[in-house]
Amino acid sequence: MSHIPGPPVPPIIGHTLKIAKDSYGTQQDYIRRYGPVYKTKMLGVWRVNLCGPEALEYVLLDKEKIFSSAGGWDALQRIYPGGLILQDFDGHRQNRRIMMAAFRASAIRDYRERMGNVMADLIATWPDDRPFDFYTAIKSLTLRMGGAVFMGLPLDGALAKKINRAITDEIRASVTLIRQPIPLTPMWHGVRGRDFLRETFRKMIPERRAAGGDDFFSQMCLATDEDGHGWSEDEILNQFNLLIMAAHDTTATSMTVMMAALGAHPNWQQRLVEEVESLGDAPLNEEALGRMVETDKVFREALRLVPPVPFIPRMATRDFHWKGFDIPAGTSLALNPGVTMLSPDLFTNPTVFDPDRFSPERAEDRIHRFAWSPFGGGAHKCLGMHFATMQVKLFMATLLRQRRIALPQGTPAWQRMPIPKPKGGLPVLLAKA
Ligand code: HEM
Repeated sequence: MSHIPGPPVPPIIGHTLKIAKDSYGTQQDYIRRYGPVYKTKMLGVWRVNLCGPEALEYVLLDKEKIFSSAGGWDALQRIYPGGLILQDFDGHRQNRRIMMAAFRASAIRDYRERMGNVMADLIATWPDDRPFDFYTAIKSLTLRMGGAVFMGLPLDGALAKKINRAITDEIRASVTLIRQPIPLTPMWHGVRGRDFLRETFRKMIPERRAAGGDDFFSQMCLATDEDGHGWSEDEILNQFNLLIMAAHDTTATSMTVMMAALGAHPNWQQRLVEEVESLGDAPLNEEALGRMVETDKVFREALRLVPPVPFIPRMATRDFHWKGFDIPAGTSLALNPGVTMLSPDLFTNPTVFDPDRFSPERAEDRIHRFAWSPFGGGAHKCLGMHFATMQVKLFMATLLRQRRIALPQGTPAWQRMPIPKPKGGLPVLLAKA
């Protein structure tokens, strides 16, 4: 790949430390110096970075079936083998059709009702007279709610607690640097967590297949494509395991970014309070959530500023040509939706929190189909996009009916990699409204 431009490579560590320390700043600097196609070396692996909305469109829409998601997300293989994101092309398409059954409108309505029932109770457990770390609290809330909505388990039962621990261990293992399950390392805990989850959920499959249920796991036990094909036990376990991971930190991060933004911009908090008040005391059903257009704009802006998935990896399965460069089969690729969404070529004052950029009059995201792409696109586009939007609106409406947001220590700096999160947490004071 000597014909592909890129920065000089420090021996042994390559660009690993520089990118880990300031991934956005480093990428922006490299794009300025080397253009939208450049190579870097991280953790011993050469990667070609294809930057900007055209690259996202070309690779994610993948009209010639060149780009493998399984090859790109290879690091997840040990913990999440067989999950949708680790499959490609025809096999992936078939499994995705089955998974869609768990995301149909009536299932989403059931999840919303289940979630609505527990959310207010969980929020009520948060203190209203002293600050606490919102990031830790929302991760715990989404996990506890996940027990009910994803698995149909009683909130806070002993089993739900063990399951949540195992899920956390798996997620930690998926981003750890030591990839072998050496005893007591995060990967070791992650592999044990995965085994525990498989064992636990395998036992539940016969009962859920027989009786059904309005939670994701039960829906996946029963899911079939249009031709009536469903999953084997192993397939259910693999797909469900990945689904929990895909759903968890992503939503928790975006809610944290929204809280930080609303605390820092009282005018926007007021706009959302008025929007929620305009819904009255009516149940937060589809119609009510559909009216939360201001909340939707804030969510979209949060996803633009701190996307939970700031880069998307792929592996080329064949040689291809892009922007004047021949790139060989077997090359690891990185797409950069995070930095793309901060490009001044696409968004006005891109680092400023300005949700009105998504208003119909301004519609800045319409400048290019992939200008705003926090959920990816093409065959692997996030299946949980509508679910996540619903969850976020339900959360905001429930919270702002009871509380007001203040940030006693101001806005945090954001760690971008490997999982975006506020450095040092997000202390909030949620006083009674
Ligand atoms: C704000 C929240 C979320 C964000 C930003 C997000 C982002 C993404 C992105 C960027 C991808 C594509 C990755 C790629 O192409 O390599 C993806 C895939 C996926 N997401 Fe999400 N996600 C979110 C929430 C959820 C939720 C709540 C669920 C489930 C309830 C979910 C389920 C999935 C699944 C199953 C895939 C794999 C789809 C496939 O490979 O066909 N996501 N997500």
